Amino acid sequence: MRSLIPADPSLPPAEFDLHGHYAHDWIEQGGVRANFVASIDGAATTAGLSRGLQTPGDNRVFAALRDLADVVLVGAATAQAESYSPARPSTERAATRQRYGLRPAPAIAVVSASLSVDLSTPLFRGADPEHPTLVVTGSSGPISRRTDIVDLASGPDLAPGSVALIDAGSTPNGDVDLVAAVAQLTELGYRRILCEGGPRLLGSATARGVVDELCLTVSPMLVGPGGSRIVAGPDWSADLLPQLRLVGLLEEDDALFCRYRIQR
Ligand SMILES: NC(=O)c1ccc[n+]([C@@H]2O[C@H](COP(=O)([O-])OP(=O)(O)OC[C@H]3O[C@@H](n4cnc5c(N)ncnc54)[C@H](OP(=O)(O)O)[C@@H]3O)[C@@H](O)[C@H]2O)c1
Repeated sequence: MRSLIPADPSLPPAEFDLHGHYAHDWIEQGGVRANFVASIDGAATTAGLSRGLQTPGDNRVFAALRDLADVVLVGAATAQAESYSPARPSTERAATRQRYGLRPAPAIAVVSASLSVDLSTPLFRGADPEHPTLVVTGSSGPISRRTDIVDLASGPDLAPGSVALIDAGSTPNGDVDLVAAVAQLTELGYRRILCEGGPRLLGSATARGVVDELCLTVSPMLVGPGGSRIVAGPDWSADLLPQLRLVGLLEEDDALFCRYRIQR
């Protein structure tokens, strides 16, 4: 991998410090960083998943961004489609995290208004206090589902602190209030929030103004008509369209790894 921005021709590509590139202006200040991959023609999925767009470099960027996060924020649909489970970094990756002053593993936080998350999956059953799963919700979910989650969290099958429900309240349209959600996560010590999607969550979070940074892999392929985009949901008003500033650009095997700051 080579860095185009900032350019450093003196550094052989093999010695490029991927973690250092993404840790700069992030570890100290924290915030919300989104990570997505798209094809050249703007598709966010092939055959319903992002997997077909990924490259070896994208997989390393994905891992490095996780290594630098306190919590991974993910929409309920992506958590299900991509079979999310608690993040369990290798010893080497846990050591990298420790060097940056982070806990050994990031928590996973699933955003769901309906609370129709499958509590029988490894994401919940495999959680423990070191690798917790959080459910971030609003006020519109059925009481019975809240009870199911609270029962699981406090029941005999899981150690205390493995699963938690974060009630962020709702916006007038019934969405989870992502401004309050980010404030609560930050309050709980999750200062570096990595949003891994999907498009509905990114659309909603960006529209609420909580996304500080977008890390976008541009995969060197055309997918053709029919692919989805990296944002979905209701249209944004014209006065809301954010401007982005390119603060980092890497290249490997014809894929581009863009790091944009969202201007306020
Ligand atoms: N290209 C990429 O980088 C990339 C990244 C991630 C995912 N993906 C792909 O994207 C697809 C899934 O994306 P998606 O857009 O359909 O779904 P998504 O954003 O992953 O999840 C949508 C769900 O999350 C919950 N949610 C999100 N924002 C919310 C908000 N503000 N308030 C309340 N609930 C909220 C809702 O769950 P409830 O219905 O439970 O209320 C909603 O139905 C998958 O195919 C995945 O492979 C691609």
